[in-house]
Amino acid sequence: GITRHYELHVKLQNVTRLCHTKSMVTVNGQYPGPRIVAREGDRLMIKVVNHIQNNISIHWHGIRQLRSGWADGPAYITQCPIQTGQSYVYNYTITGQRGTLFYHAHISWLRSTVHGPLIILPKLGAPYPFAKPHKEFPILFGEWFNADPEAIISQALQTGGGPNVSEAYTINGLPGPLYNCSAKDTYKLKVKPGKTYLLRFINAALNDELFFSIANHTLTVVEADAIYVKPFETETILISPGQTTNVLLKTKSHFPNATFFMTARPYATGLGTFDNSTVAGILEYEAPPNTLHSIKKLPLIKPILPSLNDTSYATNFSNKLRSLANAQYPANVPQQVDKHFLFTIGLGTNPCSNNQTCQGPNGTMFAASVNNVSFAMPSTALLQAHFTGQSNGVYSSDFPTNPIVPFNYTGNPPNNTMVSNGTKLVVLPYNTSVELVLQDTSILGAESHPLHLHGFNFFVVGQGFGNFDPNKDPANFNLVDPIERNTVGVPSGGWVAIRFLADNPGVWFMHCHLEVHTSWGLKMAWGVLNGKLPNQKLLPPPADLPKC
Ligand code: C2O
Repeated sequence: GITRHYELHVKLQNVTRLCHTKSMVTVNGQYPGPRIVAREGDRLMIKVVNHIQNNISIHWHGIRQLRSGWADGPAYITQCPIQTGQSYVYNYTITGQRGTLFYHAHISWLRSTVHGPLIILPKLGAPYPFAKPHKEFPILFGEWFNADPEAIISQALQTGGGPNVSEAYTINGLPGPLYNCSAKDTYKLKVKPGKTYLLRFINAALNDELFFSIANHTLTVVEADAIYVKPFETETILISPGQTTNVLLKTKSHFPNATFFMTARPYATGLGTFDNSTVAGILEYEAPPNTLHSIKKLPLIKPILPSLNDTSYATNFSNKLRSLANAQYPANVPQQVDKHFLFTIGLGTNPCSNNQTCQGPNGTMFAASVNNVSFAMPSTALLQAHFTGQSNGVYSSDFPTNPIVPFNYTGNPPNNTMVSNGTKLVVLPYNTSVELVLQDTSILGAESHPLHLHGFNFFVVGQGFGNFDPNKDPANFNLVDPIERNTVGVPSGGWVAIRFLADNPGVWFMHCHLEVHTSWGLKMAWGVLNGKLPNQKLLPPPADLPKC
């Protein structure tokens, strides 16, 4: 591979959508941020410069960061944030990965506007395992807030209530014609008849899982989270925050006498309020030149999307996702397990900490937890403490590996919904084979949680509804061709089982990619120890690593 250099300047820029202009934190003045393109095997050296008043850090979502945890990006986990006027060079090599990923800010809610596509092409000369597309387009979903997202979350955290929701969803930064004062801000996908296009979908929205469809067209899913999958056809894709999905779009063989809407709107199962609006873009066929004036276009055709809480659609869709699992792209599912974990994930409450009444349930503050531990952010980077062996006062290694007080997770919630708060890690020896069951608790309502793991891909070996049964459910696990990914939707009122090999030394964050749940504490971290061989050890920190 080669070394590729990029510079990302995090800075304010006036941006107008829905007739509302605001000063927005952007990358290089762009929303969404610029595309980063590399090939498998390349080294990326990305200089991030902070021109704003807030601290920042950037995460390369889905990049494995083998031994290079210092470049992973989550603030106070793998690095102290980059302070105003400072810069940091994220330096890492892309090993054994190709496909669509993205980058985003990883501090507070800055990722709502600081994000962009990260596209990893196969090695030079290596073909896709499907027909070569005529063209490729990244299609990134986001959320537009008229207000400053930082103000929204800090207000919510102070009052203990749920944050305000977005005003619009966006496709490549554009809300489209279904919103007021937005028709000119419409994404247009221009295609020719009879061709195959590769669409690289990214859900960079803060808080919403999305259904997406293009009217009168079928999509062939070929990749998820930068892993090739067994191709399958679908009218609609479901994509959760933190997930990426590549599809092939075959255009009609003749110029159609119509244009087509592509739309996305939420899949939502929780009890809270959410932005129930629809973003639309337009699929536009280029007419053959000599017919340009003679064609009268019929009106736009809209796709039909599954209903808002269509969990059975969501389940069927995720069941269709299978690793390619062939000789060239094997699925290296760990067949033996060294350590079994059961983590409950869900909402809960904290006592009201200000002297008024809080706006969470029964005057409390909303919280969220993993095994009832709501993660407390440290004030210095965990990875540094782990590397130097000075964890005292920073974190403890006693994260509960099983629920402390088991209960019926899908029946009546326990009377006490209070979480405990702490900065706790699970520490694993190098190369531990892990099986982790993630169980939705349904406290304060059943809800689908897109759980994201840093530093690894994992295999989704099983999923189900109700309570996970350790005596029955493992018999049905798929250890042959399960989907391999970095973000999985834990079903509303159900569980998923994942497996991964802890072959990447460092400290790795795991959290719900619904940003409001992360803010409330639905997050934890794994510490993975060095192996014995030199190439099994975390690299030393770079000289320009930011200080707290
Ligand atoms: Cu895409 Cu920890 O995040």
